[in-house]
Amino acid sequence: PKAQSLAGVRLMLTAGPTREALDPVRFISNHSSGKMGFALAAAAAELGAEVTLVSGPVSLATPAGVRRLDVESAAQMHGVVMDHIDTQQIFIACAAVADYAPKTVASHKIKKTSADTMVIELTKNPDIVANVAALPNKPFTVGFAAETRDVEKYARDKLSRKKLDMIVANNVAKAGQGFNADDNALSVFWPEGQTDLPLAGKTELARHLLTLIAEKYHDTH
Ligand code: PMT
Repeated sequence: PKAQSLAGVRLMLTAGPTREALDPVRFISNHSSGKMGFALAAAAAELGAEVTLVSGPVSLATPAGVRRLDVESAAQMHGVVMDHIDTQQIFIACAAVADYAPKTVASHKIKKTSADTMVIELTKNPDIVANVAALPNKPFTVGFAAETRDVEKYARDKLSRKKLDMIVANNVAKAGQGFNADDNALSVFWPEGQTDLPLAGKTELARHLLTLIAEKYHDTH
């Protein structure tokens, strides 16, 4: 069947990792490459959406027709998303946002000392997708869940706790898929149902997922 159009629909995505600075030369981050989120941005633009891509530091070209806003930290990603979310009709959170950031950022490079251990204190970052889903005029909100076990249980828990319209789970413990791979396999959950999108290239998967999101969005709008 022909994919439902997203012509004229304003859609925002987050993609890539965040970097949480420790000092001017060091940070805490993760293995997200941005490939999944950028493929989703391209697929959304193909369906006619007006796409805003909020990206952490990645080395990927911006898909054609996509407006891209670059950030580094979770706090910056949160700020940029909140500044632009008012006008958005669909929000997809594919970024691997750091849950915690160093409590203080040293203004000079941290020196090695004679001690054999070092303790870094972390504070919780704002939960971007949960804050978006809590807005009074919230967009259709899709979260991701990166899990290494009990995928459905944790994904369904995030769906209800963060008050999302849909959650897209991937098992990131499996070799050859998930973080930084060219392929992925997804299980999608929404309040009344679920479907599996089996292992495939991220470009193809992104098209299937955007078709599903467009369908569910149009069901409710
Ligand atoms: O970038 P690739 O290399 O292509 O890899 C793709 C991917 C594995 C990163 C992607 O498919 C994926 O799973 N993205 C979500 C990663 C993640 O951080 O999942 P989580 O289960 O920790 O977070 C749950 C949801 O909350 C996600 O939608 C996340 O964007 C969001 N979140 C989390 C923390 C936070 N402070 N703010 C958020 O918005």
